[in-house]
Amino acid sequence: MMNKQQTESYNYTVVRQFTLATILWGIVGMSLGCLIAAQLVWPALNFDTPWLTYSRLRPLHTNIVIFAFGTCALFATSYYVVQRTCQTTLFSKWLASFTFWGWQVIILSAVISLPMGWTSGKEYAELEWPIDIAIAIIWISYAIVFFGTLIKRTTSHIYVANWFFGAFILTVAVLHIVNSMAVPVSMTKSYSFYSGAVDAMVQWWYGHNAVGFLLTAGFLGMMYYFVPKQAGRPVYSYRLSIIHFWALISLYIWAGPHHLHYTALPDWTQSLGMVMSLILFAPSWGGMINGIMTLSGAWEKLRDDAVLRFLVVSLSFYGMSTFEGPMMAIKTVNALSHYTDWTIGHVHSGALGWVAMVTIGALYHLLPRLYGQQRMYSEAWIHVHFWLATVGTVLYIVAMWISGVMQGMMWRAVNADGTLTYSFVESLQASYPFYTIRFIGGFIFLSGMILMAVNTYKTIRAPKESLKFVEQNA
Ligand code: HEM
Ligand code: HEM
Repeated sequence: MMNKQQTESYNYTVVRQFTLATILWGIVGMSLGCLIAAQLVWPALNFDTPWLTYSRLRPLHTNIVIFAFGTCALFATSYYVVQRTCQTTLFSKWLASFTFWGWQVIILSAVISLPMGWTSGKEYAELEWPIDIAIAIIWISYAIVFFGTLIKRTTSHIYVANWFFGAFILTVAVLHIVNSMAVPVSMTKSYSFYSGAVDAMVQWWYGHNAVGFLLTAGFLGMMYYFVPKQAGRPVYSYRLSIIHFWALISLYIWAGPHHLHYTALPDWTQSLGMVMSLILFAPSWGGMINGIMTLSGAWEKLRDDAVLRFLVVSLSFYGMSTFEGPMMAIKTVNALSHYTDWTIGHVHSGALGWVAMVTIGALYHLLPRLYGQQRMYSEAWIHVHFWLATVGTVLYIVAMWISGVMQGMMWRAVNADGTLTYSFVESLQASYPFYTIRFIGGFIFLSGMILMAVNTYKTIRAPKESLKFVEQNA
């Protein structure tokens, strides 16, 4: 347990800033998600304006949800967790503040440049070269703050959450720098340093590991701190956490080719990607089981603790998407799923069910502690939020599964004479009802986020109840 002096010496300013930014960008990114989902039902919603077209807003959605919402959440929680578990303040107050403001400038430059149509054309790495250089500078600063704090820790060992955060920070730096190598032709246009199949392989080595290290390892770091804290129990198995950590990081790196099945990539590379993806199932479930089993002996807490529900349900979605992913990596299954909405369903069972839900749970745990309150302004609203998030996610992913499998079946159906049974337009028409359901699901999820923003505002504005709670729960 911390004493008051120690508690106050932590750098919570930057944690608060990133926490609020997470909620704000979550609402912006998911609103954009709802807008593009609506455009797929009502195409007129692009208002014949170039910068409101689907093609420009879709990458803006993915960039905002991954690099603004998701990454701000990782900044906030890693800065909080590394301080608490190392019992020391952040390495450099100035540099930590620089990472916050620098990262917000980068997000704003994405908000401007992507609707303008300035893009490198590489998925999840669309931002043009001047912004890429700025990202590298801020990311290296982040690494200095994080590892600098680890080095000056006052504890003897490094808690496992920091292993995951550390792996995520280091790997994302390498992925970003290697994949962004480009030859600039103007301030707003560059061409990849790589060509042909090599370019595709580098891109999906980056893309898949952005999933593996940013959307998975980073959030597992979050899970390893907040699940035991909220459950009031130690991690189920420390040994399992170390084993699945090493297995996860050594396997993810090889799985990228499953994004390039049946392409010009050499066949053996595709098969290697498939096999590595299948093996990846084991360490992924190792993490899920370790998280869920942390609750053993405390299951009754799920009955009335909505924060814990967010965390545990996020682990269930994590388990589900990491079962589905290896299945989709099997070449014959991928022949059906690729290019269809099944992939979109898989993405959002990971993105909404895992990434967003674990973030929301962690933030509800964090917010009262950051603002010196006993609890969130309304516990009942957290329960409502939990149901909105769960129902929204389920509607989204079930709609996409049905639509995706249907599309795959319609595209491959052939008549006795070898001609296609359905035209592409017929498969599109059949998808419309599911696009409407996805829009409704997304809108329900977004309304939960807005409720969270109001709850946060009310918590911050409520009269201060002293820092006692912060001390007792350190
Ligand atoms: C209200 C919530 C959301 C809605 C309504 C929504 C909607 C959409 C839509 C309509 C697409 C385009 C699908 C297509 O091209 O067929 C999309 C793509 C995507 N979204 Fe979301 N989204 C939401 C939340 C999120 C979150 C929280 C994340 C990540 C943390 C995320 C990550 C992605 C990714 C990575 C893609 C690209 C998928 C791919 O290319 O295969 N989304 N989203
Ligand atoms: C063991 C773990 C996983 C494996 C083996 C896996 C495998 C796959 C496969 C085979 C695809 C389809 C590739 C294609 O046909 O184009 C895919 C797509 C995708 N997955 Fe996973 N997945 C895993 C976990 C996750 C998780 C936890 C998330 C999110 C948090 C996620 C996010 C994505 C995204 C964003 C895409 C779309 C990429 C694109 O833009 O085309 N995956 N994954």
